[in-house]
Amino acid sequence: MTDKANTSRIPGFYDRSIDERISIIEEQAALSREASAYMRKGGGISAGVANRMSENVLCSTGLPLAIGLNFRVNKRDVLIPMAVEEPSVVAAASHAAKLARVTGGFFGEATASVMTTQIQFDGCPDTDAATVRVLEAREQILEVANAAIPGMVRRGFGARDLEVRVLDAEEGLLVVHLYVDVGDAMGANVVDTVAESTAPAIHELVGGEIGLRILSNLPMRRMVKVWAEVSESALGGEALCKAIVRASRFAELDPFRAVTHNKGMMNGIDAVAVALGQDWRSIEAGAHAYAARNGTYGPLATWEMTGRGIRGVLEMPMAVGLVGGSTRAHEGVKAAFELINAGSAPELGIIIGAAGLASNLAALKALAGEGIQRGHMRLHRRKQQEAQREAKAQMGEPGT
Ligand code: MEV
Repeated sequence: MTDKANTSRIPGFYDRSIDERISIIEEQAALSREASAYMRKGGGISAGVANRMSENVLCSTGLPLAIGLNFRVNKRDVLIPMAVEEPSVVAAASHAAKLARVTGGFFGEATASVMTTQIQFDGCPDTDAATVRVLEAREQILEVANAAIPGMVRRGFGARDLEVRVLDAEEGLLVVHLYVDVGDAMGANVVDTVAESTAPAIHELVGGEIGLRILSNLPMRRMVKVWAEVSESALGGEALCKAIVRASRFAELDPFRAVTHNKGMMNGIDAVAVALGQDWRSIEAGAHAYAARNGTYGPLATWEMTGRGIRGVLEMPMAVGLVGGSTRAHEGVKAAFELINAGSAPELGIIIGAAGLASNLAALKALAGEGIQRGHMRLHRRKQQEAQREAKAQMGEPGT
């Protein structure tokens, strides 16, 4: 990580041409020559690269790669790459980040990158005795787990803990959770390896039959928490603050609203995750399972009055990494990593959470204020004008 991201506050950025925007970003971020060249040629990936990433490939498809501006996260200005097809997601997140910036921006903390993996056993003859035997053999099982991932262990990470859960004593259905710190990796492959290689040793202790050996997409020990304050004056008055808090309360009381509230938050989270080549389906799955952890589906971000304005807090599992997935194969993903300049997987998770909280704030502000359609339509008109300007420029018309 370098300190090159001087500022994420770039007034008038949206009015610039794409070429000018890239030049501005080159000034602000420590971009490699490859990343600059990639953006200047219009991004995308070749069919060859696409063919290495998936199967039965015909060609590639594309999404806009944009920058979320105005973000300050844990006292550092951050340029946030966002890849999303929905108009106004990037503008809305940037707008909310500008409001939060007045009061210091976003702050956050994350746990270590501890993934959960599950090993299922069926038909265990005595689940109570099996539980005791597994817990007594904890150290040996963790050793077997670590022996399967020597590279991780060398880098100071590895298996940390285990847990036994009896799902049905009569059926003898028991599941062992292994908790593995995967460092800066997303870690799915790592923990799948751990599950598969420890299953036989645990089987000897519990009996029955080995079932599934696979990660859980609800990594309860890999969490982020992000918060921000927004002042009454930045938001435009006490009435709007109260309306946002009431909107948040609506989501707390009603799953039908909570899911839409969370979808707005995921607008920001998924956009960053996609730009960075993360497994966004796993982030989505974890988010919604966490939202329903108490038996009722609820909001992942909530807002309350502070006396000076409002304070929002987002809390959710976040399995994201600096390495693995398409982080090597895809030039656009590499460029996006240079832009965001995150030093560790937990830091990346906090920044992604900040994009989520910003998107949530922007949506609630619009909904509780003028309504969502006016802002949407304003942006839509601006995009149409831009398209007309570009079409004229391509036809060589004067005055463009
Ligand atoms: C649209 O993509 C997202 C919103 O529906 C979120 C929300 O209602 O909070 C505007």
